[in-house]
Amino acid sequence: MTLPDCGPDLGPLHAYPTADGSFSLQSERFGEAFHNSAGARNEAIAKFAVPAQLERFRNGTPLRVLDVCVGLGYNSAAVLEALPSPAPELMWWGLELDRRPLELALAQPEFRSSWSPSVLQILEQMRDHGGWHHNRSSGELLWGDARRMLQEIPGDQCFDLILQDAFSPQRCPELWTEEFLADLAGRLAAGGRLLTYSRSAAVRASLRRNGLTLLSLLPAPGERPGWSSGTMAVRPGPPIPVAGPGWRALLAMEEEHLHTRAAVPFRDPSSADDSAVILRRRSLEQASCNLEATNAWQRRWRQDATS
Ligand SMILES: C[S@@+](CC[C@H](N)C(=O)[O-])C[C@H]1O[C@@H](n2cnc3c(N)ncnc32)[C@H](O)[C@@H]1O
Repeated sequence: MTLPDCGPDLGPLHAYPTADGSFSLQSERFGEAFHNSAGARNEAIAKFAVPAQLERFRNGTPLRVLDVCVGLGYNSAAVLEALPSPAPELMWWGLELDRRPLELALAQPEFRSSWSPSVLQILEQMRDHGGWHHNRSSGELLWGDARRMLQEIPGDQCFDLILQDAFSPQRCPELWTEEFLADLAGRLAAGGRLLTYSRSAAVRASLRRNGLTLLSLLPAPGERPGWSSGTMAVRPGPPIPVAGPGWRALLAMEEEHLHTRAAVPFRDPSSADDSAVILRRRSLEQASCNLEATNAWQRRWRQDATS
């Protein structure tokens, strides 16, 4: 099924079922699927809800969440479903450019039946009213470019959890730049966690330069195992074990990856450049840097790096 274009910017979306049977989309503008081979729902649970360890918020500690690239809403829905009981006070913000993914998802009976009535009601309120306000739970979805919309959230608002799920750095570099990641990292509370499916050296190096501790995510059920399935970046705070539900320490090969040309960051000094400008700027910086070529690193770790 192909869904109509809604303007010059956002391009057509194509619907497809993922490996776990859950509904997802492919974007023609970004040339990329919204979810990976594991399936949309599996990925949201394994890479976002599980490593968030939401039971930490059992004892009346409020939970502040930022969902970057809400899309169909899987990641936030998985987090909402996994909240401990009694649920903590919740303050949620979402950033998203395109209204269609959430509208299309909520029109799918299979998608709707994946969630409990209370989570479904919240997704509907995001779609219809741009948020919700219940007794101890509130949310605001800010429509527009995430770089700009993040600035609409009061500067002193910190997050315990940031779900960073933009399209890949090569397709959507504007949301993986040194500057945008610094803005996100700067919003993490002590002990706060930024979760992403990305294992990109450029992204990891930017997060580390911003004072975060890096951990590597384990594959979701059904996902083809590779050398890493994503990144959890943690603002120093209460001690966190090097291995936990859904994560482990970085391997030596992952540490070395951070010293190759792949680790040259995406830069967007004005926070307004388009992807072509950002990619060109990075290529020039890579060509003139004296970091090790990434294919030399790949050859050294051939067995692991190609899996
Ligand atoms: C990989 S999908 C996100 C999937 C989503 N997290 C989910 O659970 O369904 C990436 C999303 O980023 C959005 N997007 C792309 N560029 C953006 C931008 N500059 N600002 C905000 N959202 C953007 C797209 O519209 C798309 O919904």
